[in-house]
Amino acid sequence: MTISNSSVPPSSAGAAALPRIAVLATGGTIAGSAADAANTAGYKAGVVGVDQLLAAVPALSSVARLAPEQIASVDSKDMALPLWTTLAQRINTLLASDDVDGVVITHGTDTLEETAYLLHLTIKSDKPVVLTAAMRPASALSADGPLNLLNAVTVAAHASARGQGVLVAFNNRIHSARDVVKTSTYAVDAFQSPEIGALGWVQDGRVEFQRRVLRAHTLASEFAIGAAWPQVEIVASYAGVSRIAVDALVAAGVRGIVVAGTGNGSIHQSLQQALVDAVARGVPVVRSSRVGSGHVMRNGAAADDALGFVGAGALNPYKARVLLMLALAAGVTDAAALQKVFDTY
Ligand code: SIN
Repeated sequence: MTISNSSVPPSSAGAAALPRIAVLATGGTIAGSAADAANTAGYKAGVVGVDQLLAAVPALSSVARLAPEQIASVDSKDMALPLWTTLAQRINTLLASDDVDGVVITHGTDTLEETAYLLHLTIKSDKPVVLTAAMRPASALSADGPLNLLNAVTVAAHASARGQGVLVAFNNRIHSARDVVKTSTYAVDAFQSPEIGALGWVQDGRVEFQRRVLRAHTLASEFAIGAAWPQVEIVASYAGVSRIAVDALVAAGVRGIVVAGTGNGSIHQSLQQALVDAVARGVPVVRSSRVGSGHVMRNGAAADDALGFVGAGALNPYKARVLLMLALAAGVTDAAALQKVFDTY
């Protein structure tokens, strides 16, 4: 494979020694555009091409040799499972080549945490994989995309990013794909790793990691991307919730259910009975929390052993769904075996 970058040509003879980073664009606000530079909310996501994104950041040429690819141009609210398959397969192919040292993915912020965790569990390489995004469209005053992109490439090109699993570089911080969540609808500091914080930071070409991810990922993950995605849906517990949604999902043949419980994953009694009935019909149920921080304690707010539920630990409902889909696709269906999966990843 030949790595070249038509958008950002290497600026010096020393460029040949720079790391080779593939930049895979999928759309999002980072590639968004509005008619008015003061407009940061009413724009169209995913309309600016990857060459244009890279051309807006001349400093990239002194950080890496770039190979841009336009994988998709979607608003990430519309992220589809076949696109996940395409993206993961392409990254695995690229990283298997000696000509690629790392990958950066530009993505929308809305489902970035789901894509990042999916890749964290299915990429078969210890080379850096870094996602980034933006809260303001490329056309906006003070657009945050260009610096986020430069920082993401800087992290992907850095030796210390190797073996850290899939990373998210956003607003100068480096997060693990497992921990990171979007926590603001508008602020440029929109991503946090609640409770435990970022892995490190990136600024002005410097990269520093202050902790490592302990849970299994990438090369240590037993999961692989496959063509088939078991149908897994999320339901929430809230005041006055009925069992209608769960019963409809089971009747529709869903393969697994994640419940976004209240507090420590507690579940309204009506919903809980529907979920117990779902388990009795062979549909695994994973208990997560809608709170957004902390973890769900197994056999805490619900008697998981007696009810046949699986505890999601610190995974939010959206990431728990990703892990449940991968586990089911790998043939893991028994509650005890699924619990082991959730305790490992
Ligand atoms: C998207 O997720 O594609 C749109 C929103 C964003 O990127 O901030």
